[in-house]
Parts: sequence; structure tokens; C-alpha cells
Amino acid sequence: MNKTPHIEVDREGMVSKTILLPGDPLRARFIAETYLENPVRFNTVRNAFGYTGTYHGKDISVMGTGMGMPSIGIYSYELIHNYGVENLIRVGSCGAFQPNLKLYDIIIGISASTNSNFASQFGLPGTYAPTASWKLVEKAVNIAREKGTPVNIGNILSSDIFYDDDPDSWKKWAGMGVLAVEMEAAALYMNAARAGANALCILTVSDSLVTHEATTSEERQTAFTKMMEIALELA
Ligand code: HPA
Repeated sequence: MNKTPHIEVDREGMVSKTILLPGDPLRARFIAETYLENPVRFNTVRNAFGYTGTYHGKDISVMGTGMGMPSIGIYSYELIHNYGVENLIRVGSCGAFQPNLKLYDIIIGISASTNSNFASQFGLPGTYAPTASWKLVEKAVNIAREKGTPVNIGNILSSDIFYDDDPDSWKKWAGMGVLAVEMEAAALYMNAARAGANALCILTVSDSLVTHEATTSEERQTAFTKMMEIALELA
């Protein structure tokens, strides 16, 4: 298939079986231009730039998903069902909930709690626990160990709300050991699980709800590079 409502490619096979998914389409372009050999752009619909190239000789794609679960829900669904993608790796930023987490720390979301209604479509007779694929978690942790890059592995929160009317609501999640907040992983994990695909979310801490510190854009780059080196080797 060459065309879906939100992705258009010139020919079949332009999207690799493994894709990195930053939220920001310009970040996708940066990743393609910085890390990939011979990147070819496969999508420009809605400026959700997508590229395929190679990293150390292995095919890999990268595409911006936009912010929030509705957006990543759309792109991940089409990538899996219409473009044959099997491994979907979100690379993003997050706000830390725990005092031990410092700016630029790397987090692997082994599970993603959520305040979203996304799971209701599946009509489950209970509460679903969106989970990363063990295969990708294990591989990412092994890569991080080999590189000597420390990673924090745990439950993250995929929130529908950035500007929360209750500024303290995050403390309840923190009290349950949730590491940090972002806005996409739970939908990605659910879509992948439903389709038998593999998904993972790797994050760098860009701000802390505990200390109210936030990163500057240039400082973010170094931490981002470490996260990218783990993600790219998952190809
Ligand atoms: N909230 C939600 N998503 C985020 C945050 C945050 O504080 N920081 C980075 N992504």
C-alpha cells in the first residue's frame, strides 16, 4: 500500500521494519540527517516527516508522530497495518516524578500507566496494563550496559494533559512509583500489542516536577545522543 489517510509513500517497501518515533517531525529530520546513511524521505503529509536509511548497514526508519495519544495512535496504526512496520521505538522527553531522577537521565518505560480513554475501544472486561515488548526492553538494556550508559527502567505515565488544572495530581502517580510523565507511550504499546508488533519507549528527562528544573535545548543534545545511540542499535 502506498497511501493511507496520514502517510503517503512513493512506492511499497519504503518504510523499514524498525522505526524510531520522536514526537517532533523536525527531530525526525535531524535524526535522519545526523545518524542515517543515505536517508530518503518517505512522507511529508501534514509535515510528519518520515525517512528511511541505514545505520551501521542496517535498514531503519524514523518519523515524527506529533504530540499525544490520538496522534501517535494514528501513525503507529498505519505504520503497523499498512506499511509492515514490526518494531516501533518512541524516542522522547519526559518530566521526572522521582527525586532521584536528574535532568538528562535516560528512562526505559517497561510499562505505561495512563489517564487516557484509549483502551476503551478494546472493550476489555477490566483495566489493561500497556507494556513494552520484552524483546526490545532486553535488547535496549543490553546495549546500554555495553555502552556503560546508565538507564532507569520502570513504569511511566502517558498523560492526556500537559496543563493540569490540579498541579499536584502527579504526586499520586509518583506515590505509586511511576518514574516520569510523557504523552504517547500507552497508545503505542496498546496498538502494538493488539497487532502483535513490538514497541518500546525510551525517554530523556527534560524537566522535573519535583525540583522544577528544566533543560536548555543545547544541553538536551548530549543526553539525546546517548538515548539515540541505544535506539539506533535496536535496528
Ligand atoms: N508533561 C508531559 N509530557 C512531558 C513533560 C511533562 O512535564 N515533559 C516532557 N514531556
